[in-house]
Amino acid sequence: MLAIIGGRGLTELANLNITHRQVMRTPYGEPSGAFLFGMLNQHEIIFLARHGYGYTIPPHLVNYRANLWALREQGVTDVISVATVGGIRADLTPGTLVVPDQIIDYTHGRDATFFNTRNTSYRNIDFTLPYSPELRSRILRGATEVRQPCLDGGVYAATQGPRLDSIAEINRYEREGADMVGMTGMPETALARELEMNYATLAVVVNYTAGRGDNLQSINMENVASTARNAMGRVRSILECVVNCHDD
Ligand code: HPA
Repeated sequence: MLAIIGGRGLTELANLNITHRQVMRTPYGEPSGAFLFGMLNQHEIIFLARHGYGYTIPPHLVNYRANLWALREQGVTDVISVATVGGIRADLTPGTLVVPDQIIDYTHGRDATFFNTRNTSYRNIDFTLPYSPELRSRILRGATEVRQPCLDGGVYAATQGPRLDSIAEINRYEREGADMVGMTGMPETALARELEMNYATLAVVVNYTAGRGDNLQSINMENVASTARNAMGRVRSILECVVNCHDD
């Protein structure tokens, strides 16, 4: 089964026929909100709003472990994460959709692994390709089918937040290879791999990052919100197509 974790601007899926809601509990605490079970084009999927349905949980306080653990408990094998990012690379302008293929973790102090006790066996998970190549191509194929431009590949820098970045930080991330920056990519991506779920991100560029574009003095958060809102129609149409061809 496929699950969609929605971020800023995507706290619901308009065409999801909700069959039921379920509050989940896990050994790691409670997920961000009730799981919405629904039918999207005859396929059952689960939808979860990463920041809670009232958009109240900041990135560093999201219970990523509970979210993924509970999804797996429900039989989820594939997770598409929708995440807003700031664009560092010149072609990642506000409104652009992109499916990253690599990630760098700049977060700290988050519960970043399920292997955190001394007396159970642990594995060093492979993270060479942090995102599932198959799921990535399914998103890109869906985008092509609904004729929505979507860029293939890019390095996602996961920052701690919840504040935005300084220009010097963005320059550093760029030197280190980052193309975009967001606050929720880690540990979510790694935890999905620990649970052997296929995971990919559909990133929505909602702003030029600090010091890029015309953001030389500050970033206008109202523009960020409206760019996110405007892009979500395109994101939904891609997701619907991905779900449609999901079992093909
Ligand atoms: N920086 C960090 N995270 C973000 C940004 C940004 O500019 N935009 C959206 N998420």
